[in-house]
Amino acid sequence: MIMTLKLSPDTLTLGIETSCDETAAAVVAGGRSIRANYVATQDDLHAVFGGVVPEIASRRHTEVITRVVDQALNQAGVSLNDIALIAAAHGPGLVGSLLVGVSAAKGYAIATGLPLVGVNHLEGHVMSNFVALPSQQPAAQPLFPSLCLIASGGHTDLILMQEFGDYQIVGWTRDDAAGEALDKAARVMELGYPGGPAIEKAAVKGDPQAIKFPRPTIDDSLDFSFAGLKTALVRYVEEHGLQATTGGVADVAASYQQAVVDTLVRNVRASIETFSVRQVMICGGVAANSTLRLAVKQLEKVFSLPVVFPPRELCTDNAAMIAAAGHFQAQRQGSDGLGLDVFSALPLAEHV
Ligand code: KG4
Ligand code: ZN
Repeated sequence: MIMTLKLSPDTLTLGIETSCDETAAAVVAGGRSIRANYVATQDDLHAVFGGVVPEIASRRHTEVITRVVDQALNQAGVSLNDIALIAAAHGPGLVGSLLVGVSAAKGYAIATGLPLVGVNHLEGHVMSNFVALPSQQPAAQPLFPSLCLIASGGHTDLILMQEFGDYQIVGWTRDDAAGEALDKAARVMELGYPGGPAIEKAAVKGDPQAIKFPRPTIDDSLDFSFAGLKTALVRYVEEHGLQATTGGVADVAASYQQAVVDTLVRNVRASIETFSVRQVMICGGVAANSTLRLAVKQLEKVFSLPVVFPPRELCTDNAAMIAAAGHFQAQRQGSDGLGLDVFSALPLAEHV
């Protein structure tokens, strides 16, 4: 028998997120209203390596996790006594990193006797559309079915959402994720890490039409493939270098970014045409990208339906989205025991 938890709009959830290289904690009321959202980034530690080094990430998580939780509680002006539920991301992600957050969450649960839930990090990203500061409205309304594009460093998923907790994957990437394609390209262009924001910055003065990069398709499918695009960039740079066009590296960055955005938007369009949805959402780190935000927003007029995305700080990894997902999950299916495990791969749903 499932023991669901009775939670009210005032119930406070402590969220903990450590799936990759951000150590984050948040306090969220009623799964909707952000009271505190604190993120300690590790970008500086990994930048010299051009990507996340798992051992360094988990070590830093252990060093800062309790201070990060304290910061979130302080920001919210509450103590653990005021919290009703603890939610931690338990996959997908780096196992060593996830273990730190989940172990800390278990420690707090043991110390306080509070219920604990393990949240799918990808559901967290979806829920970033439904959570907001008290002074703001959440990006999305509970209008179902909704289509949600998650575009992050590890995932590119097109999700049909029938209800909170009810998902089907209608498209995913067959190889690299969109964020991964940007991170790898930034390395080729020597723009630094993380690659998405570095390419966005470099692209500002570039011409997105300067270089014709491919927009790979997979016949009769809403799936993505980004590996060929990355290879096209490597070939281009080997043959022409970075300064072959008037705008130099800015043109390469802008043209590459446009190819990633066009590919994402093309499949979002195709999904809207295939399924009758009432709302479109995007989320995940790549959803912080201005070119993508602008391009998907244009679909609003084309299809006469709301196309929404969270504020940038909720697109990249954070714990407010984990607390929000945890709140609704606990209401639906109760809490998890202290045996809660972590998973490097944790599918949100079946690919239909
Ligand atoms: O969701 P996220 O913070 O972590 C994962 O769950 O993976 O996404 C990180 C990804 C990285 O690949 C990063 O380069 C990309 O999101 N990203 C961006 C931007 N900010 C972060 N990509 C494009 N434009 C941005 N502004
Ligand atoms: Zn993420």
